[in-house]
Amino acid sequence: MGGVRTFLLAACILFSSAQLSAGVTRHYKFDITLRNATRLCTTKSIVTVNGQFPGPRIVVREGDRLVVKVVNHVRSDITIHWHGIRQVQSGWADGPEYITQCPIRTGQSYVYNFTTAGQRGTLWWHAHASWLRATVYGSLVILPKRGVPYPFARPYKEVPIILGEWFNADPEAVIAQALRTGGGPNVSDAYTINGLPGPLYNCSGKDTFKLKVKPGKTYLLRLINAALNDELFFGIANHTVTVVETDASYVKPFDAEALVITPGQTANVLLHAKPTFPNAAFLFAARPYATGQGTFDNTTTAGVLEYHNPNRASTKLPLLRPALPSLNDTANVTNFASKLRSLADDRYPSDVPRTVDRRFYFTIGLGTDPCPTNRTCQGPNGTKFAASVNNASFVFPSTALLQAHYYSQSNGVYTTDFPDIPPFPFNYTGTPPNNTFVSKGTKVVVLPFNTSVELVLQDTSIQGIENHPMHFHGHNFHVVGQGFGNYDPVTDPCNFNLVDPVEKNTAGVPVGGWLAIRFRADNPGAWLMHCHIDLHLSWGLKMVWVVNDGPLPNQKLPPPPSDLPRC
Ligand code: C2O
Repeated sequence: MGGVRTFLLAACILFSSAQLSAGVTRHYKFDITLRNATRLCTTKSIVTVNGQFPGPRIVVREGDRLVVKVVNHVRSDITIHWHGIRQVQSGWADGPEYITQCPIRTGQSYVYNFTTAGQRGTLWWHAHASWLRATVYGSLVILPKRGVPYPFARPYKEVPIILGEWFNADPEAVIAQALRTGGGPNVSDAYTINGLPGPLYNCSGKDTFKLKVKPGKTYLLRLINAALNDELFFGIANHTVTVVETDASYVKPFDAEALVITPGQTANVLLHAKPTFPNAAFLFAARPYATGQGTFDNTTTAGVLEYHNPNRASTKLPLLRPALPSLNDTANVTNFASKLRSLADDRYPSDVPRTVDRRFYFTIGLGTDPCPTNRTCQGPNGTKFAASVNNASFVFPSTALLQAHYYSQSNGVYTTDFPDIPPFPFNYTGTPPNNTFVSKGTKVVVLPFNTSVELVLQDTSIQGIENHPMHFHGHNFHVVGQGFGNYDPVTDPCNFNLVDPVEKNTAGVPVGGWLAIRFRADNPGAWLMHCHIDLHLSWGLKMVWVVNDGPLPNQKLPPPPSDLPRC
């Protein structure tokens, strides 16, 4: 009898631990500090986490809880955002300054506490204050639960590859000057791979990331585009890769010679090393996909892929360069985007909403602000550059929006009149209107809990058509359709993919085109949606969705943590 009971108990424990999504709690400390760094023969002081650049790698398992104490030892205000983490019922830990929290001031600290339940894949973290993410970023890898395999052959090794953007100047000074003059900012000096520009820049050869592989093995590259302002093509000379995941959602595998990866996006790709030792070394490289009219950093970062051969003395091998798509190869980008399909199988079904409660149509793009009197401005025709969603250019409130929402004190902080449709219809991708001034304000859309939303994002031609990588906090979305020109609400929905649309947290709105997404507003809080090009973010290309509490206890935003920074 006793034996049977013990057995039952043991079986019970096994069963319940397999059911529980809660994993272990992992504690980290992020000290925000300055350090000197030298790239391209220029030494400067940069803001870092724990003196590391790129910042510390975080590797956890699905279901683990992260508790990260951030202590600010530098003069700039800072926050940290956990890019792609859903933050279900933990909206206070999301991070964007003045949206979910006031910034952490000098000498102060804040503990970010959130779970990775229900998520797996490559994500990342970065500063979400001004342009500090130029140097404050790192990878956040969520491994599947123990015993749960990848839906692809197990790789021999996993390698994070973070693409970044390096300024010889202080990025904070660059954006401050641009906002003051109203003109475009000075561009960066290099792109980087894991913090290193690589051999194609002057005075940079020793700052090259090297990847050593063994013949016949498969490597999982966890790619992250952390660049501030540039979408990038990435490719490896003489190798195709297999794309298996984007934005921490599995996709139906497909082969690609080059990838396009926008700021904010991640991609997991399998690199199949050649079966035998090749008589060459190979560069992997990234350079811009550029669609805007402004100047940009037209340079190429590269790393070296070397085959490890213990039987051969290291001889000088020829170094092959990848053929990356040309700078404005939109056909390549469209083709790549069309191949991204979610697995949509029994194990990883698609939860794209099949029915829609609310529809929205948002124009996104640039615009202008008038130049203050007695000043000269360097934007278009003597104005200042601005950017907007439905012509509303978002102004940060002076206190955290989420707090105002939680305590029902929106008065003087934000208004709930964000337009559902463009306030002044025009031929969005045709000739722009004469008046390109944006309206300023702190406007939100309020959604009842569990609203199923369809949103069409429409690029505009104001100051030039351009691909905008739109990022949504607190939710993943499903890309159900995209196209060029103006969205047609009658014919375009016929082609929507409601079977296996790719699930993303960041997606490029095609240059001179539109993107249709669906999501379920099942996460109470205040969620920023913005262009992940930091310049456009600074110019106001952002808005906020406020998702109200649901009726059940587990559908409510808990009270703020006691150490939530004050403004
Ligand atoms: Cu990766 Cu709001 O950002």
